[in-house]
Amino acid sequence: MTRPGTASAKARIDVLVDELNRHARLYYQDDAPEISDAEYDRLFRELLELEGQHPALLRADSPSRRLGAPPAEGFVEVPHRVPMLSLDNAMDESEMRAFDERVRRLLEREGDVEYAVEPKLDGAGVELVYVDGVLQVGATRGDGRTGEDVTANLKRSRSIPLVLRSHGPPANGRVSVRGEVVLPIARFERLNRERLERELEPFANPRNAAAGALRQLHEIDRARLAALEFCAYALGEGIPPAVETQSQVLEALEAWGFGASREVRVCDGVEPVIEHHRHLLSLRERFPVEIDGSVVKVNRLTLQRELGELSRSPRWAVAFKFPPAQETTVVEQIEAQVGRTGALTPVAKLRPVHVGGVTVSNASLHNQDEIDRKDVRRGDTVVVQRAGDVIPQIVKVLKERRPRGTRRYTLPGACPVCRAQTLRLEGEAVTRCPNLDCPAQLKNNLRHMAGRGALDIEGLGEKIVDQLVERGRVKRLSDVFQLDAAALEELERMGAKSAANLVESLARARNTTLSRFLIALGIRHVGETVAELLARHFGDLDPLMAAEREQLEAIEGIGPTIAESVARFFGDPRNAEEVRRMRGLGVRWDPTEPAAPRGEGPLTGQSFVLTGTLDGMTRSDAKRRIEERGGKVIGSVSKKTSYVVAGADPGSK
Ligand code: IVH
Repeated sequence: MTRPGTASAKARIDVLVDELNRHARLYYQDDAPEISDAEYDRLFRELLELEGQHPALLRADSPSRRLGAPPAEGFVEVPHRVPMLSLDNAMDESEMRAFDERVRRLLEREGDVEYAVEPKLDGAGVELVYVDGVLQVGATRGDGRTGEDVTANLKRSRSIPLVLRSHGPPANGRVSVRGEVVLPIARFERLNRERLERELEPFANPRNAAAGALRQLHEIDRARLAALEFCAYALGEGIPPAVETQSQVLEALEAWGFGASREVRVCDGVEPVIEHHRHLLSLRERFPVEIDGSVVKVNRLTLQRELGELSRSPRWAVAFKFPPAQETTVVEQIEAQVGRTGALTPVAKLRPVHVGGVTVSNASLHNQDEIDRKDVRRGDTVVVQRAGDVIPQIVKVLKERRPRGTRRYTLPGACPVCRAQTLRLEGEAVTRCPNLDCPAQLKNNLRHMAGRGALDIEGLGEKIVDQLVERGRVKRLSDVFQLDAAALEELERMGAKSAANLVESLARARNTTLSRFLIALGIRHVGETVAELLARHFGDLDPLMAAEREQLEAIEGIGPTIAESVARFFGDPRNAEEVRRMRGLGVRWDPTEPAAPRGEGPLTGQSFVLTGTLDGMTRSDAKRRIEERGGKVIGSVSKKTSYVVAGADPGSK
């Protein structure tokens, strides 16, 4: 390969460092990766190679100088006394053989080296420190040298022993146990089903769900934490003197009460390693947790020490990755689906293929811009990818296999559900159906109205909503309050008892509060905080409905976007009529008490806008602390704002 010139190498290194740092933040701090691990690895290797050729160009902030991203703000930092290293990758069998050759060369060995081969678990790396057998601290890996103290969260997982069992070798003094926190696939799927029912965003993959659970600061999602599983695979400090190999490390961990690494094999030489790797690949689809390769470790600890480590990764171990889960298939159809806000999402209907353990038959194409960029057409052969993600992606179109006579796809000019003319506003990526009574929107709006934060109508689940709309029983939101037991009993799988229960919960839901009612209406940008602000300010609905946009905007905490959305909603006679009908059908609330008088304090008379991630506390904590001292917290910046408290990654405020 020819060496690229220094100038072009510098430009490329700059791009790579910036991109890799951004992706590391997305992955480690935001739990919102944009690219697959394979893609990240490819960029990282390119960087390592360029830096190797041009050592003078190594940037101070190059990701090759560290092992991950720094700890997120908000948690107490914990130094790892023995750094938690990362692993180099072997992408295929030839790279695996090259690793073995290097090991043998460094050890000056002719014969086979013994390796321990384990599944590579796709979760979040964690260290648990025990002193005289008692758990002291559990920390995330962080950047490998310093992690975050997540002891409280970890303790909720029953797979973590609080005290080590006294079987096996004695665990005296300080012992640090390393392993992976994972969310088993079955629990992950159940969790996502529950989230969808509660209208929450599903998690992209088990790893994100696990990592996110660990890093919850206050509002602890206990069910998610309890579902976590810790699998131990290494010791940092406190290796008992009798333990001489990695396989004995695993045995000691098991004896101390940790979940054993499944499917571990000790192999003589590289060929059995490759064989076990293939075996693990064949098990992948049936494995209870996500695995993305095998980890191959020199088994003898003395040999590990002899080989030593580089700054980033040890010379005695390698991550032998599975091939990325990609397949080719054919786009049989492109459909536009309509969501709660009326947004049309193009979805590619695929000839079903098996990718990375699941059958894939749909892939979202997001919006018109994305379709134009990829130029996906009906009849195209495409590469689909599932990188541990729930929502499969179309990676690219194989243009050379495109049949004759295909046409570019454009989202329909008429809503596929109600035939209203669709529109795309300037500067927006989404195409929408503007019809509020569109059955697609109605179903979603009904589910929203029945949700816990809104009217909390128990028993009005997705299946019932679908039937009510499809059978024309509910043509607008207010129709729900006209339903009686006889009408409900006509529905499928609805007995007399459930019908009576639903009638009763509708009766209960009619007695609500003004802010819940406002949430239930599904006005864009009106969530809990704004609904409460409006309820407190106006006390009752009529003055709010009569308010002009300017009046709304004058309220502390209400910005122009919210004011416009609220005024527009109540300005539409169809919505005003809906509200009138609901009240006529018995929906009621007591006038809201004016805001409780705030205590006098050092911040009396000052108003604050909070934005971004604050250091060491959540925004609701900060809000409470400000209010306790007499200050006010409002939603958006105006002339009356005294201070803007901007944390990391602030919004546009
Ligand atoms: S050993 C230096 N064993 O993979 C030794 N790591 O890409 C590194 N991982 O940070 C740890 N399964 O979080 C080891 N059986 C296994 C593993 C494993 C998953 C993770 C671990 C590590 C990352 C490196």
